[in-house]
Amino acid sequence: MKNILITGGAGFIGSHVVRSWVKRYPGCRVVNVDKLTYAGNLANLKEVEGKENYLFVRADICDFEAMRELFTRYAIEGVIHLAAESHVDRSIEDPFAFARTNVMGTLNLLQAATLAWAGDHAGKVFYHVSTDEVYGSLAADAPPFTEATRYDPHSPYSASKASSDHLARAFHDTYGLPVKISNCSNNYGPYQFPEKLIPLFIHNIVQEKPLPVYGKGENVRDWLHVEDHARAIDLIFHEGRVGDTYNIGGGNEWRNVDLIKVLIRVTDELLGRPAGSSARLITHVTDRAGHDARYAIDSSKLQRELGWRPSLPFEEGIRRTARWYLDNPGWLAGVTSGEYRHYYEKMYGTRTTIGHENS
Ligand code: NAD
Ligand code: TYD
Repeated sequence: MKNILITGGAGFIGSHVVRSWVKRYPGCRVVNVDKLTYAGNLANLKEVEGKENYLFVRADICDFEAMRELFTRYAIEGVIHLAAESHVDRSIEDPFAFARTNVMGTLNLLQAATLAWAGDHAGKVFYHVSTDEVYGSLAADAPPFTEATRYDPHSPYSASKASSDHLARAFHDTYGLPVKISNCSNNYGPYQFPEKLIPLFIHNIVQEKPLPVYGKGENVRDWLHVEDHARAIDLIFHEGRVGDTYNIGGGNEWRNVDLIKVLIRVTDELLGRPAGSSARLITHVTDRAGHDARYAIDSSKLQRELGWRPSLPFEEGIRRTARWYLDNPGWLAGVTSGEYRHYYEKMYGTRTTIGHENS
């Protein structure tokens, strides 16, 4: 495949996918389209800026004409769709933004691909990246989510992602669009915006700020390192069956309170503080509205059919992640001060495309 469109490539997971794709597939041109919301940060992509096979386009996936133009202008043959509003707490504050980007934005891309490919689907792929949160909340003793689990989303975020999954399947069933979908568990790793649990808590431990635990902190999440997710995306894009769904997860369930103890122990140790001294920062706060009790994902289909395995042991992943945040205070300071948002304008003014345009 020559030309691939990656949406949301300036975000957390997207930037890992873009960096690895640009390096791994030099014969493939990666067009990264991103609106650069608060979560999009071009500093995540310094490693690939200027590479021959990389192009950045600043655009909103809600702009249908802009999406149509991208498909024709760059002869797009494959899509990895990651652009989304991704934080549950923000979806509680502003559900409309989630419906706009996650539902309407996805619909725009599906329609733009359908029109551009005009039934010629040979060698084409539309890969929609989704979350395990569409399956809802599990009881403590329930088996993990499989691909056959009924959708039961509870937050505006998960409801918007569930809608986009249904639309992607509908485009496969109705128009024959070569859609692939994956639903992944909670990711962690470098470049994650410090509003999500793991980077927020590492940042607050460093700053000796309170660690806000929602409710009793007994909620369970199944954590996967972002590079393991990016590897699964590559594998499914190339080898997954069209029209199929794959669950991705680490088989790595943690209650928030237990995970926080690991974060404190590892980060204190890296900072040279007495082990566990940051436990005094733990502060129980009001629970999140509609807080899902437990997510756990069964990824045996992906393991059995495509041979994927999570590679990084959890404590090692947490150690590397904490190390990365400690080694990159500039990244964290830019993100927390909002300075990174001016980077693009300072570097590129009003230009919307950066990179090599010769098509
Ligand atoms: P993120 O919030 O870090 O990044 C999202 C990116 O999308 C940002 O660069 C942002 O600027 C861009 N974006 C947002 N709205 C846009 C719009 N209207 N037009 C163009 N670009 C827009 O998110 P993430 O954590 O990297 O998640 C990426 C994808 O993976 C999402 O679809 C998310 O639902 C899914 N996912 C995330 C996780 C997780 O744990 N983070 C787990 C499973 C699935
Ligand atoms: P989060 O990283 O927001 O991911 P998600 O809600 O998509 O699973 O939250 C992970 C868990 O941590 C979730 O149970 C909510 C909890 N949490 C806190 O207790 N305090 C916090 O400040 C945050 C951001 C999350």
